[in-house]
Amino acid sequence: MSELGRTAFRDRFMSAGPILNVMNKISIGPRPYMAAMPTVLVGATVGGEPNFMTASWAGVACMEPPMVSVAINKARHTEKGIAENKVFSLNIPAARNAVESDFCGIVSGKNEDKASNFEVFYGKLASAPMIETFPVNIECELYHTADLGSHNLHIGKVVDVHADESCLTNGAPDTMKVDPIVYSNKNYYRVGETLGKAYSIGKGMRRL
Ligand SMILES: Cc1cc2nc3c(=O)[nH]c(=O)nc-3n(C[C@H](O)[C@H](O)[C@H](O)COP(=O)(O)O)c2cc1C
Repeated sequence: MSELGRTAFRDRFMSAGPILNVMNKISIGPRPYMAAMPTVLVGATVGGEPNFMTASWAGVACMEPPMVSVAINKARHTEKGIAENKVFSLNIPAARNAVESDFCGIVSGKNEDKASNFEVFYGKLASAPMIETFPVNIECELYHTADLGSHNLHIGKVVDVHADESCLTNGAPDTMKVDPIVYSNKNYYRVGETLGKAYSIGKGMRRL
């Protein structure tokens, strides 16, 4: 980025004043806060039937071997399926899938067959159901479960990732084409404007 570009970036996105002013901080108590989270649907087979539940407490856990994680409340129907089969899937909805994604977060598979709303497919793992109409699907073998209290943190080893061809650029999922749903403060959002290139725009601050 040019010096002109850097100045424009600072003027637009960064405060001109001191960055740290601890006196302005208010303690809001311990809570599992994250400003923005993904929205995924966890797929599992429960009692022989496919089930999907919405989860935002999900993320990347390891690069090599590739692993992802999801925190699931022990009361969820999905928990039974993961315990039974030791596999699950993470299905990434597009913005166009927001309504059915929310539905799977307010209704339990204990009471309703949520999977009948989707075209379900399977990849390498027979008990990890996936949603055909979602742009990206991640098949996972359960690697480890950490019992943390209300929630179990499941770490899944990624066995395969299935992506719609229309969402790829040079063979990799393209965020703007995937059009994922961001969850924050009980609202759903789309990915917004680009701030700059990661691993790059900070380089100008190097002293050496
Ligand atoms: C946006 C959203 C995010 C959610 N994230 C999680 C989560 O990360 N972990 C969890 O245990 N429940 C989460 N829930 C709640 C479950 O999706 C919900 O209790 C669901 O009905 C459980 O389905 P099941 O009983 O069929 O497993 C979320 C719900 C919504 C709407």
